[in-house]
Amino acid sequence: MSKIVQITRRERFSAAHKLAIPEWSEQKNYETFGKCSNPNWHGHNYVLWVTVKGTPEPMTGFVVDLSALGDVIKEEVIQHVDHKNLNKDVSFTKDIMTSTENLAIAIWEQLENPVTKLGAELHCIKISETENNYVEYYG
Ligand code: NI
Repeated sequence: MSKIVQITRRERFSAAHKLAIPEWSEQKNYETFGKCSNPNWHGHNYVLWVTVKGTPEPMTGFVVDLSALGDVIKEEVIQHVDHKNLNKDVSFTKDIMTSTENLAIAIWEQLENPVTKLGAELHCIKISETENNYVEYYG
């Protein structure tokens, strides 16, 4: 029986965004999205956990080369989002509501194929926007 192990890499990024529905009043947006509706943007220090799974390779004992995984996350995600405006600057988030939920889905789509190329399988994208909340997406 194969022994599947999950392994997680943490990366961090800082980015600006806004959650608001343009057709709604500022008041209604505030009631729905709170501080995230601020008309002139605001930022978060996001924490991203990328969990992959696989069978440890017999020679190395590794599921995946963690430094290679870190490089892939930086190339495919971090360099595009860090110190950027998620609603305007980032090709894979500018056309969505940039809720943490939707960010998790968008980041999954960025990473699924590159992680496969490393010989592992993407298992979970977890993101926190503040220390009190996080979301998880399993594809
Ligand atoms: Ni926000």
